[in-house]
Amino acid sequence: MTDAVPLGAPLPLPTPSAELRARLAVRRSAPAQALTVPGPDRDAIKDILTLGARSPDHGKMTPWRFVVMGPESRAEIAEQLAALAVAKGLPGKALAVLAKLTAAPVSILVVSTARPGPKPVWEQELSAGAVCMNLEHAASAYGFSSCWITDWYSYDAEGAALFRVAEGERIAGFIHIGTAAEAPLERERPDIAALTRYQP
Ligand SMILES: Cc1cc2nc3c(=O)[nH]c(=O)nc-3n(C[C@H](O)[C@H](O)[C@H](O)COP(=O)(O)O)c2cc1C
Repeated sequence: MTDAVPLGAPLPLPTPSAELRARLAVRRSAPAQALTVPGPDRDAIKDILTLGARSPDHGKMTPWRFVVMGPESRAEIAEQLAALAVAKGLPGKALAVLAKLTAAPVSILVVSTARPGPKPVWEQELSAGAVCMNLEHAASAYGFSSCWITDWYSYDAEGAALFRVAEGERIAGFIHIGTAAEAPLERERPDIAALTRYQP
């Protein structure tokens, strides 16, 4: 699919979309373990990445990169993570959560490559977060469910290294994508009024 617009050409302005609004109004993550086949194919993944990368990025630093992971590489790394968890004496939960890593047909690892530069590192990391969220929306546009997971290995230097995350980089999240085995249940949502101050 191509939506190519020449550089500098005007883009369409937003128009009201009841469909988009309705989709956002019921957005929910799927439990990672409930994500099953089918998942997006190569072309859909490429487009999901393209759409996800269309995220705010102060200073055009592109402070993130992607690793598209199929089930095989994740299963292999999960075995290594299990051994690492045992070696480190981590509680049993550290092993149990590995099921979230291996379940989905496709996972996109978003690595934050934020570094000191013309724009604050914080803003670069926020950009990586925006990419994660847009990947989820893009997956939804293809009719897939998704889930944003980090878990302990994202914050463990040896764990992250198994995904070839380099020193100085950070894992923004694993966006697991597939077909939800069952419908998610509505959960409590924050009281927007209590979180919001309006000003004239
Ligand atoms: C940065 C980030 C990391 C997350 N990591 C995990 C995780 O490691 N394990 C988990 O169960 N949920 C994790 N979540 C939460 C889920 O992605 C999901 O947002 C949550 O279950 C709430 O569901 P909802 O997205 O439908 O509101 C994370 C969310 C964010 C934003």
